[in-house]
Amino acid sequence: MKTNDQLDKWDRENFFHPSTHLGQFARGEAPNRIVTGGKGVYIQDRNDNKLLDAFAGLYCVNVGYGRTEIADAIATQAKELAYYHAYVGHGTEASITLSKMILDRAPDHMSKVYFGLSGSDANETNIKLVWYYNNILGRPEKKKIISRWRGYHGSGLMTGSLTGLELFHKKFDLPLAQVIHTEAPYYLRRSDAAMSEEEFSADCAKKLEELILAEGPDTVAAFIGEPALGTGGLVPPPAGYWAAIQEVLNKYDILLIADEVVTGFGRLGSMFGSEHYGLKPDLITIAKGLTSAYAPLSGSIVGDKMWDVLMQGTDENGPIGHGWTYSAHPIGAAAGVANLELVDKLGLVENAGKTGAAMKAMMQDALGDHKNVAEIRGEGLLIALELAEDPEARKFFDPAKTIGAKVAAALLKRGVIARAMPQGDILGFAPPLCITEDEAKIVVDAAAEAVTEVLG
Ligand SMILES: Cc1ncc(COP(=O)(O)O)c(C=O)c1O
Repeated sequence: MKTNDQLDKWDRENFFHPSTHLGQFARGEAPNRIVTGGKGVYIQDRNDNKLLDAFAGLYCVNVGYGRTEIADAIATQAKELAYYHAYVGHGTEASITLSKMILDRAPDHMSKVYFGLSGSDANETNIKLVWYYNNILGRPEKKKIISRWRGYHGSGLMTGSLTGLELFHKKFDLPLAQVIHTEAPYYLRRSDAAMSEEEFSADCAKKLEELILAEGPDTVAAFIGEPALGTGGLVPPPAGYWAAIQEVLNKYDILLIADEVVTGFGRLGSMFGSEHYGLKPDLITIAKGLTSAYAPLSGSIVGDKMWDVLMQGTDENGPIGHGWTYSAHPIGAAAGVANLELVDKLGLVENAGKTGAAMKAMMQDALGDHKNVAEIRGEGLLIALELAEDPEARKFFDPAKTIGAKVAAALLKRGVIARAMPQGDILGFAPPLCITEDEAKIVVDAAAEAVTEVLG
C-alpha cells in the first residue's frame, strides 16, 4: 500500500465532498478513495486496487475510461482555443458541430440545443424556458411544475425541489412552492397489490389528472420525468405508463420535459429513452453520456413548439436574458464531438441493448430464486437488484439495517463497484456501455456472492 499521509490529511481537512457524511469523513471514520486511473470498465486507486466500475462513475462514463480519442480532442481544442463565449452569436466549430450531431440523433420535432455544464443547470434552464414560454403566451398563472416522487433532476434550488427524494429536501427548505409531486411509476411498490401493470399505469394517470384539477389546470405549466426512473430506484415504466400520462398532459396543455441525463445516448439500448418508450417531449435534458463525463457539458434540447414562442419572445423583449460564462465551452464541446463519434464507431448503443439483456438474464439465473430478491429489473445497461425481507408479501427491510449498503460493500470487497441506491435496498448496475459479456459475468458472480454473504 502506498502511503501519502499528507494527501489523506489534506483530503479530510480541506475537501468538502458532495453526498458525503461530513462529520464521519472529517473525523476519519468513513473511508476515502483516491482514484488515480482507469481503463475500459476498470478504475484504479492509489493503493493499487483495480475495481470493475459497474456504475460508470455516476452512470456517466459511457464509453469507458482511458479513451485517448477524447483526450486528444480535448488537448487539441485547449491548444487551439481553450475558451471563447457563446453570447450574442459567438461559437466554435466544436459547439456548432455538436449541436448538429445532437439534433441528428434526437427525435425529429426537436429544434435547438442550449448548452450548460451539468444536468442540474440544464434542468434549471428548462424551468426558466417553460416560465418564459407561458409569459410570452400571456399565461402568467401557468407556472407550476409537476414531478414524481423518486424522480431525480438535480440538487439546485429548483432542481433539488423537482427531485422527489426526501434526503434532498430535508433541512434545505425544499421543495419550493411552485413544485408538486405525483405518484412514482414504481409497480413493485404499488399500494394495491391486485393491480395489473396496465391498471397501475392508468391509476398513475388518474392521480395526475386529479392533482392537475385540484391545483387548477391554468396553473400547471409542465411535467418532468425520466423516461425510466434513475436514482429513485432504476425502474423502467410500467406497461402503458407514458401513453396514459401524455394523454392527460395534452388534455390540459401541459409541457413535457424528458430528463434524459441518464437515458440519453444509449444507456437503454436506444439513442434516447423518449424513442424507447414513445415520449414526445417539448424539452429534453442531456448531460452525462453527451461527453461520457470526459468534460462537463449538458444541454436542453428545445422542441419546435417552444422554439417558435421563444423567438416571438425575443422579437418582443430583446435578447433572451439567460446565459452562463461557460455555456457551450469549447473543451466540453470538443469532448462531446469525439465522444459521440466513438459511441457510433464502437456500436455502443447496440451493445447496451445486447449485453444489457444478457447481463439481466445472467442476474436472473444467479439470483432470481434467492429468498430475499424482490425484483431484478432493467432495460439495456440500467439494471436493478431489489432486496426485501419477504418479497412475496412485499415486506421491505427496515432501512436501519442498511442491507443495500452492506451488499454494495460486499461487492466492493470482490472488486466490483455497484451503487446502493439512496431510497430502498436497491443495488444499481449501470456499467460503461462498452462492457463485454465476460465482464458482465464478473459483476453478476460478485453480486451473487455478495447477496449470499449478507443474507445467506
Ligand atoms: C436524471 C438526472 N437528471 C439530472 C441530474 C443532475 O445532473 P448533475 O449531477 O450533472 O447536476 C442527474 C444526476 O444524476 C440525473 O440522474
